Amino acid sequence: MSHVPFAVVLLLIRCLLSSSLVFPKDLSPIRTIDSGSTRSYPLFRGLASDENAVNLGLDFQKMVRLNQTLFVAARDYVYTIDLRRAKDAISSDKYITWKTQNMDNCAVRGKPLDECYNYIKVLVIKNDQTLIACGTNSFNPTCRNYKIQTLEQEGEEFNGQARCPFDAKQTNVALFADGNLYSATVADFQASDAVIYRSLGEKSPVLRTIKYDSKWLREPHFIHAVEYGNYVYFFFREISMEYTTLGKVTFSRVARVCKNDMGGSPRVLEKYWTSFLKARLNCSVPGDSFFYFDVLQSMSDILTINNRPAVIGVFSTQANSITGSGVCAFYMDDIEKVFNGKFKEQKTTELAWTPIPEEKVPMPRPGCCAGFGNAASYRASSEFPDETLSFIKSYPLLDEAVPSITETPWFTKTTSRYKLTQFCR
Ligand SMILES: *[C@@H]1O[C@H](CO)[C@@H](O)[C@H](O)[C@H]1NC(C)=O
Ligand SMILES: *[C@@H]1O[C@H](CO)[C@@H](O)[C@H](O)[C@H]1NC(C)=O
Repeated sequence: MSHVPFAVVLLLIRCLLSSSLVFPKDLSPIRTIDSGSTRSYPLFRGLASDENAVNLGLDFQKMVRLNQTLFVAARDYVYTIDLRRAKDAISSDKYITWKTQNMDNCAVRGKPLDECYNYIKVLVIKNDQTLIACGTNSFNPTCRNYKIQTLEQEGEEFNGQARCPFDAKQTNVALFADGNLYSATVADFQASDAVIYRSLGEKSPVLRTIKYDSKWLREPHFIHAVEYGNYVYFFFREISMEYTTLGKVTFSRVARVCKNDMGGSPRVLEKYWTSFLKARLNCSVPGDSFFYFDVLQSMSDILTINNRPAVIGVFSTQANSITGSGVCAFYMDDIEKVFNGKFKEQKTTELAWTPIPEEKVPMPRPGCCAGFGNAASYRASSEFPDETLSFIKSYPLLDEAVPSITETPWFTKTTSRYKLTQFCR
């Protein structure tokens, strides 16, 4: 398991909170665990009785813990593991089998057979009784509800488009909050329609990001989503719009939507988010050799650091530069501060990106949730004035980058061919 050594790394980070770092000197680890030693850990490879699991491996996709049960989504199966019994050996006595019915159809579309299985990439707990699972299902994404207690399917299966990618290689995130499924993925076979999507709510309309609008999303890789306060936050990386001098440059982002977003008016942004904002995450080493770790690889849930809610991210350098990794943490209130700050626009004359002067920002402020802050007098986002809705449609990006908790990353690793890819706790 590749993330085991990182647990050790994290212990080390905790001890280093107050010391300063000089790039590019790496810290020496207190303890490392090599792949040889990890071989003595208990291992779970899937069902020994399934030929595909034996030949192709488990193909782990997602896991969710509920009390003492771990649900592991993989190719064609969701396994449950009783954590009280998983000390020396890991086994699954209860599991869901969900195989693709029509593998031929996939081969017809020119895809290699091993991509035609059902890679289960969405696994979320809906409530005490129900689990939602969605799989690529041979490039025909499909979702099902399952009873948590018995693992029996509940009701009919339903379309997984915009909830689960078509292709197992695509990154996606999903979260259930306030009776809605929030998903971030690509919604088409060609993987060109990137989307942050909300669906399945009984009281809320289906909403999405604007289709094919690179100001909203540009070739994103979604990493994580968390519910916090009135919002759902998404962490991802994408090709930057505002920095293009060196061709395609990846930036890391945090985006936010209001949980009570009802979409726009029939004139502007109907059926689209009215609260979608995004900002860059700044994980960098300042100084003479100013250095950015701009490629988000992994993000924690919300933790408490210095008594303040925060997240910890694992970043790497751009794919075409030297290999390096950095770990940075961000306070949630610093993220909020950036979302309450200046917006960014591209000057049509000189093409430079500059902050939008405050007097050009309409009221209620774009990105506010109806019923709160300076949108307190609005009952729903669909009542927002056209100016507010048009503004956010054109300018979802904030000017400032979210600063990390410390001036420099907590931890960097730049003298290795390997990059850090996982956060775990
Ligand atoms: C998990 O534990 C909580 C608290 O003990 C309990 O209320 C809940 O019903 C449990 N959930 C399941 C699915 O067993
Ligand atoms: C990122 O943070 C560093 C260190 O605080 C700062 O010097 C730099 O200007 C920031 N970069 C951006 C793009 O905000």
